[in-house]
Amino acid sequence: MWKRSVVVLALGLVGADCMCSRDRDREGKEPVAQTPASPLPQETTPKRDSAEDNAQRMFAQGRSTFRLDTFGDEAFWGGSIRLHDAIQGEQRGGVGSGVTPRAALTLGLKLDSEALPVGVAAQLRAGRAELDTVETMLELLRQDAIVGVRAFFSTEDPKRLRAIGVTCAFCHSTVDDSIAPGVGRRLDGWPNRDLNIGAIVARSPDLSVLSGLLSVDDAGVRKVLASWGPGKYDAMLLLDGKAFRPDGRSAATVLPPVFGLAGIGLQTWTGWGSVPYWNALVANTQMRGKGVFFEPRLDDKVRYPLAAKHKLGRLRAERDEITGKLAALHLYQLALPAPKPPVGSYDPARSIRGDALFNGAARCATCHMPPLYTEPGWNLHEPKEIGIDDFQAKRSPTGRYRTAPLRGLFAHPKGGFYHDGRFATLLDVVAHYNKTFKLGLDGEQQADLVEFLKSI
Ligand code: HEC
Ligand code: HEC
Repeated sequence: MWKRSVVVLALGLVGADCMCSRDRDREGKEPVAQTPASPLPQETTPKRDSAEDNAQRMFAQGRSTFRLDTFGDEAFWGGSIRLHDAIQGEQRGGVGSGVTPRAALTLGLKLDSEALPVGVAAQLRAGRAELDTVETMLELLRQDAIVGVRAFFSTEDPKRLRAIGVTCAFCHSTVDDSIAPGVGRRLDGWPNRDLNIGAIVARSPDLSVLSGLLSVDDAGVRKVLASWGPGKYDAMLLLDGKAFRPDGRSAATVLPPVFGLAGIGLQTWTGWGSVPYWNALVANTQMRGKGVFFEPRLDDKVRYPLAAKHKLGRLRAERDEITGKLAALHLYQLALPAPKPPVGSYDPARSIRGDALFNGAARCATCHMPPLYTEPGWNLHEPKEIGIDDFQAKRSPTGRYRTAPLRGLFAHPKGGFYHDGRFATLLDVVAHYNKTFKLGLDGEQQADLVEFLKSI
């Protein structure tokens, strides 16, 4: 009785429009009075700013969407290309021998150590985990421990997969390898440059939908998928059908980081649009979730023959599973900081000299303006301004390349630099600018610039 009256008193003092409306918002129902941990009424709790509350709520929602939401894309990854059947193997009514956790790691998939079933993390540390059975794979999927992959199990037979879907984290998260290579805590926003998306999709027993979308036969689809390699994906393929560049190399781009994007004007390598614009494009046209997408630039039959034919710029699903999630997803994306390079990962003395060059004689900061390391404003350039070909730029409505925001470069040393990874190392990038802009930097100065790039 006594405790109850304290609760009533506490609620009364804090004020119904503060605590209660907040709780109602969160749960969608009236708050239930709970016994406070301490008998003292909490009348001293400061009234929190509603924007701060909102930010926290949206952050949590956005993170969950980024990590776990498939937007209904299992209708494609499971329903159409039946990847789940390749995973579970013919023993469980699928096809082939199935996919084991070890095979998944070889394909570049990552294991979230915090979601691992009890005991498995310890076994992994000791190098004794059972990574060679499809059964373990299914258990890991059940626990959402395979980063970016969601499994849907059959209700009649809970041991069987009904479908599989992918989330944003599939391409844009990796792990810190704290337990074993490929196993650790999630690092959202870090591009997974080990992920071989082409090889994963090629495991599918039925690529007929892709054949249809691309108007090529099964062998043609497989040739394209095999051309990507780890850390690459071609987000324009289903729009313009161009799988290869004029020089015969793959038209795929490297997976970009999606951290450190707050304050950056235009997104993607070629500046298609803002973060929420691109998120809507990807969720609808690439992951093939169910939503609404409006982009009249994709009606251009010459530049985007496939998108125009399949009306990808005018999608309107019966049940929209995307639009309502874009706001929180946007906020979460902007909250992801560019990671700080670990101490010892670069030479501090050289980095200081490199900083002076970057902002001075090497003229890098004319475009890569610190601390954003891109231009505040319309951050796009003609291909010739940076001395490269226009193939990928022309696949974008902008016809240009976006000044890449450079923070956290150390986090993606694999797969090369520039949109297609054409420069294997940062020194190759610097040497390219040295030649293109006739900077006349000697070897020491170029090394200084590289150490600076590793430090930002
Ligand atoms: C299959 C892999 C894949 C998935 C899944 C994926 N993306 Fe991406 N994402 C890419 C690639 C590749 C690019 C680069 C495209 C380009 O620039 O041409 C990209 C670019 C981006 C960018 C622009 C980054 C920059 O530097 O401007 C953002 C933001 C982004 N993705 C967010 C998301 C979100 C949010 C989701 C989930 C709704 C998602 N992506 C799902 C592959 C993926
Ligand atoms: C005219 C504007 C401009 C100048 C000047 C410039 N850059 Fe760039 N930079 C770009 C653009 C645009 C890209 C994106 C290229 C692409 O996507 O292929 C880029 C990309 C890069 C990348 C690759 C980033 C990644 O994630 O792969 C690095 C590193 C880089 N620049 C460093 C420098 C350095 C160092 C200098 C000075 C020597 C410099 N830039 C000068 C516009 C510029």
